[in-house]
Amino acid sequence: MAKKVKISDLVLRDAHQSLHATRMTTADMLPICDKLDKIGYESLEAWGGATFDSCISFLNEDPWERLRKLKAALPNTPIMMLLRGQNLLGYRHYADDVVEKFVEAAANNGIGVFRIFDACNDPRNMECATKAAKKTGKHVQMAISYAVTPYHTNEKYAELAKEYAKFGADSICIKDMSGLLRPYDAYELVKAIKAKVDIPVQIHTHATTGMSVATLVKAAEAGADVLDTVISSMAMTTSHSPTESIVEILRGTEYDTGLDMKALVEISDYFRGVRAKYAKFESALKGVKPQILLSQVPGGMLSNLENQLKEQNASDKLDEVLKEIQIVHKDVGYVPLVTPTSQIVGVQSVLNVLQGRYKMMTPEFQGLLTGYYGKLPADPNPDLVKLAVEKSGKEAITCRPADLIENEWDKMVDEAKAAGGDGSVEDTLTYAMFPKKAPKFFKERANGPVNSDSFKVAAGGAGKGGSYTVNVNGTAYNVTTGPAADTMSVTVNGTAYNVTFGAAGAAPAVAAAGTGAGADVKAPVAGTLLKLVASEGDEVKAGDVIIMIESMKMELEVKATANGKLHFCAAAGDAIAAGQTLATIGGGAAAPVAAPAAAPAAAAPAPVSTGGTAVTAPVAGTLLKFVASEGDTVASGDTIIMIESMKMELEVKATAAGKVHFLANTGDSIAQGQTLAEIN
Ligand code: CO
Repeated sequence: MAKKVKISDLVLRDAHQSLHATRMTTADMLPICDKLDKIGYESLEAWGGATFDSCISFLNEDPWERLRKLKAALPNTPIMMLLRGQNLLGYRHYADDVVEKFVEAAANNGIGVFRIFDACNDPRNMECATKAAKKTGKHVQMAISYAVTPYHTNEKYAELAKEYAKFGADSICIKDMSGLLRPYDAYELVKAIKAKVDIPVQIHTHATTGMSVATLVKAAEAGADVLDTVISSMAMTTSHSPTESIVEILRGTEYDTGLDMKALVEISDYFRGVRAKYAKFESALKGVKPQILLSQVPGGMLSNLENQLKEQNASDKLDEVLKEIQIVHKDVGYVPLVTPTSQIVGVQSVLNVLQGRYKMMTPEFQGLLTGYYGKLPADPNPDLVKLAVEKSGKEAITCRPADLIENEWDKMVDEAKAAGGDGSVEDTLTYAMFPKKAPKFFKERANGPVNSDSFKVAAGGAGKGGSYTVNVNGTAYNVTTGPAADTMSVTVNGTAYNVTFGAAGAAPAVAAAGTGAGADVKAPVAGTLLKLVASEGDEVKAGDVIIMIESMKMELEVKATANGKLHFCAAAGDAIAAGQTLATIGGGAAAPVAAPAAAPAAAAPAPVSTGGTAVTAPVAGTLLKFVASEGDTVASGDTIIMIESMKMELEVKATAAGKVHFLANTGDSIAQGQTLAEIN
């Protein structure tokens, strides 16, 4: 009896979440939906995960509107969403009434399959969402977050699957976020689960470690019913196994998917074109990351750690941190490392290495130890639990964490309206998920979605984050940019300059901004500036070739657009974007600058030291806010400053008793060891 294996394609959610920081727009999805809908997929994953956050944070898209449009365009294929149990799509536990409303609204707007998971694999964190999803009549899949630890065995996972089935799961997913699931282990695991439950089993395994295709095949052999894949042009590296490859591997066997290759290839061609637009978000991974198999640390977590250590000027400590993670992971009962636990365990491990083991403990780590995220798989280190209780002043709990949360729907309705929501259930939920970001989104929603054409940049243009030395009229300045910054303006002695960052490591270009009404010479296409043909300050005529650029492996001329004095705004070797201003002609660009101060005027002047006991920044980051006021009398150990570092809020405490004098400003980027305050 032939057993057909079914396929869920993740191209509309996990693929671009893994490859392109979840930036794919609805406008790039809709044109191919008709073809996707005809393939005969078991489901198309298209919503949940980080898509909701990305829609309102970066794309100015209403995530609910996206869902309705996709549903209308995919009448025959169920849309699957990824739902983080009691966290929904946000980063905290919600009250049950909010969870129920969310699930109901998601079903009403078009979700056909709820894939529900919890970082702790604590079924109690999935209970409310699962019950609500069952009530909608849609397919409910409960996912096991897969981890490889001394604690986890196939037997334990099979027990968990059995428990999920008792909760009413229609199917089970093995969710391997980081490609840790080895092919032969997958075979045994699927067999073990199949021996305990008789509902379908679906496999989700990322390609990051290069094992995923084999893992899916062995899982199919063991009886897995559905495999997660991604259309080939959006597959592999941090994404998933290519749909077409899996279809062909299984063709003619008892696991044949029956899917039409010709139709799949047409879809792949479409997404190849789409993918090019998102190049600047493309994850840096080329090929395979075997380090993950050595460290057992998920790929996303590994790159986060690398970035965090770089920020902390401690890139050389990566090996030490990876070793520390093994210890910290054991201390928190081998909780699977997935959002948000991967971040919590990662940051704590970095702090342990930089500051001494558990000298500093983040509130999140305290919460994880004391049960506020759910039951940990194995028992946590009891001494640390004691320490966390002491530090947090909160008791350790063993109940379902959401039992401690009062119903909050009515409050959310009022707050969402006050934040500019339209009073709908959907807007209330958008607000509830992202209360800090929703007000801005409500205000700007009418401007319409961001067009992905605006993402196009020159090759090598990604990853500008870092410190640069910028040369303005012969004086060097240090500027620091965020990771995605292409340009920034710097004011020196009252004159504004535009700084354009090229490829990582290349010197940025500086141009006087807004100093005259000169004619702009813009880059016709994206590429690299090869050389300047004229010289700075030359008198040129319209039509003169002034710049050569390289684009699409061709050398192209860029010509003057007016007569007048030439001023260049970019330098040879710069990566340039289409439409970027490369030069101005006849403007006041050569405005002289008087001897500037030693730093860009963008930074507020730092207050002056008056002596006293220094309070220094434990790690690099941003000064969030002052908890005490200037001149306050504080006791040693009082929290006086909150800083943000590695996406966590950390307390900085007074190192002595006395009067506080602050030496930094809120919003400042701060270096590790920098004196933030003095106590006199
Ligand atoms: Co995934």
